[in-house]
Amino acid sequence: MPPASQPPVSRPLDPERLRAYAKRTFGHLEGAMTSAMIYLGDQLGLYRALAGAGPLTSSELAERTGLHERWLREWLQQQGAAGLLEFRGEGRFELEAEGEAVLANEAHPACGIGFFARLPAQLRIAERLPEAFRTGLGLPYDAFGPEGAEGIERGFAPWFRALLVPFALPRVPDLLPRLQRGERVADVGCGAGIALLEMAKAFPHSEFHGYDVSQHALARAEQNRARDAIPNARFHDARAEPLPADGSFGFITTFDCLHDMTDPAGTMGAIRRALRDDGTWLIADIKAHGSYERNVEKNPMAAMMYGTSVLSCLSSALSEPGGAGFGTLGLPPERLQRMTQAAGFTHFEPLDLGHPVNAFYVVRP
Ligand SMILES: C[S@@+](CC[C@H](N)C(=O)[O-])C[C@H]1O[C@@H](n2cnc3c(N)ncnc32)[C@H](O)[C@@H]1O
Repeated sequence: MPPASQPPVSRPLDPERLRAYAKRTFGHLEGAMTSAMIYLGDQLGLYRALAGAGPLTSSELAERTGLHERWLREWLQQQGAAGLLEFRGEGRFELEAEGEAVLANEAHPACGIGFFARLPAQLRIAERLPEAFRTGLGLPYDAFGPEGAEGIERGFAPWFRALLVPFALPRVPDLLPRLQRGERVADVGCGAGIALLEMAKAFPHSEFHGYDVSQHALARAEQNRARDAIPNARFHDARAEPLPADGSFGFITTFDCLHDMTDPAGTMGAIRRALRDDGTWLIADIKAHGSYERNVEKNPMAAMMYGTSVLSCLSSALSEPGGAGFGTLGLPPERLQRMTQAAGFTHFEPLDLGHPVNAFYVVRP
């Protein structure tokens, strides 16, 4: 009999495997702590202050930012330990060029700092999810508040700003001349409208309509439109003013949103009815595979993706009774193609844009 103070052991434990398992578990906690520090680095402008500044001490960083040296010293040491800053000796830390691209320079397509901006809102949601597991009903994107919409906007904007118009659209067959001449374009699930507004600026003879169900995202979209005084773009609440079923659009886009929808099949049908017979639909959705095994094998970020799914994508896709609930990795190409066919499309062609996370497809009636 083990002494009463020891926990009951139902199965024998291998000490090596126990150590490795604990290390893996605490590695995830380390990731959470580092993510919180990245959030602070962004909110306080620390990466921007470090960008191009060479190796800085905490006192030098304090002088540049007006923040307290002692707090900065701890933050710098954490970032050095996490491998995000290079330690150059004598208390100096440097943000290398790659770190600047990913964490500080939102004009660079590799910049991902925006995804950390919504982290607190994303984690706060976890407190409400036990209820979702019990009832089956998730939460829509608006549950993250304005901070959530801002984070999504900042997360996706660098790619849209740097690559959508100059790199991606020219690779969609026969599209550019139509947009240059004047076309009616819709972006469904437009979020804060960055993709739509980039296209509207580039093609002044075309007319652009963004549709979303998130009031926070639509409010930001309208602010973004008004700030740049873009006359040829409008945003619509997809529930109050759905896509018209009149075949009046020549180009429709859906960026990273079909898997979030409660009724993606319904949206696909609506897109078909809104699109002219010679129109084009460009889909971007998360690169996914047909089985769990393949997702884990092929996607080094699979654990993050399934976590993001529970916290936002799956939750959104189950936010109404009867929601489809596909979730982040729920739309592999075979399923997408089947669904587009069921909605009345015949042409489905992958478009390789070398995106690290998204797959693109050109779809036509
Ligand atoms: C991950 S965000 C992507 C936003 C934007 N396309 C981008 O790339 O920045 C998914 C968006 O889909 C929207 N959405 C979810 N269900 C929708 C629906 N049925 N109709 C239109 N938009 C929807 C959400 O409100 C959210 O803004």
